[in-house]
Amino acid sequence: MITKTIGDVPNMQRLTENSKYAILNDKGALIRGKVPRSFTFYSRSGYVTEPAQDWTAYLTETRAYAAANGAHIIGNIASNSVRGWCELARMVESCGVPMLEVNFQHPHPTDLDTTGAEGIWIAQDPGVTAEVTRRIVEAVDIPVMVKLTPESNRITEIARAALDAGAVSVAVSSRFVGFAIDIETGEPWIGGPAGVGGPWVKYITQRWIHDIYSKLGAEISGSNGIFDARDAVEFIMSGAKVMQVGSVLMLKGTEWLEDVIKGMDRFLDSHGYDSIDAIYGLGSERAFKSPAEALEMEPLYVDIDQEKCRHPSCSICVKMCFYDALSIGDGQIVTAPDKCIGCELCYNVCPFDAMEMLPQSERADRVAAE
Ligand SMILES: Cc1cc2nc3c(=O)[nH]c(=O)nc-3n(C[C@H](O)[C@H](O)[C@H](O)COP(=O)(O)O)c2cc1C
Repeated sequence: MITKTIGDVPNMQRLTENSKYAILNDKGALIRGKVPRSFTFYSRSGYVTEPAQDWTAYLTETRAYAAANGAHIIGNIASNSVRGWCELARMVESCGVPMLEVNFQHPHPTDLDTTGAEGIWIAQDPGVTAEVTRRIVEAVDIPVMVKLTPESNRITEIARAALDAGAVSVAVSSRFVGFAIDIETGEPWIGGPAGVGGPWVKYITQRWIHDIYSKLGAEISGSNGIFDARDAVEFIMSGAKVMQVGSVLMLKGTEWLEDVIKGMDRFLDSHGYDSIDAIYGLGSERAFKSPAEALEMEPLYVDIDQEKCRHPSCSICVKMCFYDALSIGDGQIVTAPDKCIGCELCYNVCPFDAMEMLPQSERADRVAAE
């Protein structure tokens, strides 16, 4: 269990008192009632509303309760000054909390800002990330996990900076900021830009989990996009050691978590894996290791199993083929192997499993045999 961010930035505390939430469907309209998998949680909130010091009692009590129940709590903090980060870190540690998560999504460490302006978003700059992490790590003895922002294209570099500076792990990641509008009224939902996320974002989270796992071998806490057990399994296969489940518990109740965990157990059992370790990083290990390796993938072409093909009632593959490699001739779908580049779209979309991908290198042998 990770706490909400305990911070010392007054406006981020006030923001929570003024929190706004809307749940949107895949078209961008409000979801009222039961929340389906295809939700977007559009929400604006800040840090805990109470002064950080008030949390010493909560943390001490909750830590003891967690320990008595075989669980742990992790204290999440944020400040806009390095001094503030260190003080908060020490405060959390003094409550007996065994681990820190530092929320580097924002705000700006104003005392590191040389421009005299707003400061720098910590986790968008490897140098700032390294400096703030190093100072926090020096301030406490408990392990520090750095929670990264997804709003950077240098996430792996920033993760490396955090780990080199002494972080034990990284959380990948917090949420994006988005902007959503009610087109009936022309008004932005909940008044303006807000945090945005939902199960649809998981592929982007997994891209960075995969990248950091593959390049740095780091221990990763995956966050941003888990709805159910399937997503959790994908996170682990991408290289997350543990996961964070947030929005869906707010929308469906904490009892949802039990279903996620049971679902993971069922998945492991039904697929013959004896433990979570057996699937940890599995997908990432099997991915190509570099863009160059992707270019070297064996060239393929598609052949059609006419027994399985349901043309004329279905011709979805012909409609979709970007390369004019599929056409209708003599009452059946035929392929033009010279045009087919082996993109696998028809193979992946065919509802009847009628497409077969074959190596171009074996084409001559096959033609000769026919
Ligand atoms: C309403 C709301 C409040 C949040 N508050 C915090 C917070 O105080 N500190 C923090 O580090 N992350 C906060 N988060 C981010 C979550 O911890 C989590 O990283 C994010 O929601 C992505 O995971 P999810 O897809 O499971 O929701 C908040 C998310 C939501 C939706």
